[in-house]
Amino acid sequence: MNFIRFQDLCANGQVKNKRVFIRADLNVPQDDAGHITEDTRIRASLPCIRMALDAGAAVMVTSHLGRPTEGEFKHADSLLPVAKRMAELLGRDVPLMANWVDGFEIVPGQLLMLENCRLNKGEKKNNEELSKKMAALCDIFVHDAFGTAHRAEASTYGIAQYAPVACAGPLLAAEMDAIGKALTNPKRPLVAIVAGSKVSTKLTILKSLAANVDQLIVGGGIANTFMLAAGLKIGKSLAEPDLLAEAKAVIEAMKARGAEVPIPTDVVTAKAFKADAVATIKAATDVEDDDLILDIGPETAKKLASQILAAGTVVWNGPVGVFEFAAFENGTREIAQAVAKSNAFSIAGGGDTLAAIAKYGIEKEVDYISTGGGAFLEVLEGKTLPAFEILQKRSRA
Ligand code: 3PG
Repeated sequence: MNFIRFQDLCANGQVKNKRVFIRADLNVPQDDAGHITEDTRIRASLPCIRMALDAGAAVMVTSHLGRPTEGEFKHADSLLPVAKRMAELLGRDVPLMANWVDGFEIVPGQLLMLENCRLNKGEKKNNEELSKKMAALCDIFVHDAFGTAHRAEASTYGIAQYAPVACAGPLLAAEMDAIGKALTNPKRPLVAIVAGSKVSTKLTILKSLAANVDQLIVGGGIANTFMLAAGLKIGKSLAEPDLLAEAKAVIEAMKARGAEVPIPTDVVTAKAFKADAVATIKAATDVEDDDLILDIGPETAKKLASQILAAGTVVWNGPVGVFEFAAFENGTREIAQAVAKSNAFSIAGGGDTLAAIAKYGIEKEVDYISTGGGAFLEVLEGKTLPAFEILQKRSRA
């Protein structure tokens, strides 16, 4: 993928004394009192900011936080807690500027955070006038917000159209590179793990991956629907019988390419969805009418782990069982450990997946952990994200 890299501009001395506008994704979770509960995205934004400051730029950084009503400021929507956290991490002041769209003074060496960009009228709809005003604030626009790369908004798309230079920051560039390595030009076999409660929410992903991957491992409620499609009984487990034809089509499409959707041969069941429910391991053919399937069985886990160990590339989205309950975590733990041990290039994303990675302490063994939620899923769907599209276009302009 061709795009201008901010690193290259810095290395070539093209950033000194320039006004650099960084769009980051600082949309972090907060508790009711407004305390940040998880700051990965703030930490992930720092390399770009440091790079711009080290290169001698005047630096502005903005982000959205939540989904506020445009034009209506509320304290809960303010980036102030984010600016404070960033100041702690950088060991320098990060002043927060409100009402910034019409311009302000900034000099090289200075770092300003611009208040929640979704408070600006026209942001969501990618308004042209707003985009042009934002573009006029800078000499270089840096898109470094992968988590927002699937949105075409004024601060992510419009500004990139009109800024004198539009480029990818180090975080966005790393995401683009990792995705390219995993999906465009993968080392084979390419194994994808797609799990979650519903086929319907991930159907486009399953169809898109079915045309590319060598093994499509399904888990959770999605696996239940595939078990039904394979003629197995699933008791009262979560499934979507109306999507059986779609699941069969995915299995057939894979088979036609000599690839496969491995169907569980054993499962862990319970009679109730409870942490202390009695867990029973049984063959996939022995599931009873009042059973709930809450995990894959040990034989299935071993088989999937060996496929992951033999893979050239692994793409992971979703835990394969109810890993929050100790009795039903074995499948997800085995998958996590196999991803960690495998020499395959591995990329993972999605909230639950990140929670599983943290639980099993394998952060360092996964080659790339995406900061995107919805954006990561749209990539798996095979879509070209608006951020990628406009930055490629601008690299040719
Ligand atoms: C996210 O949290 O996934 C991103 O920050 C995007 O947020 P949005 O769904 O409100 O655009």
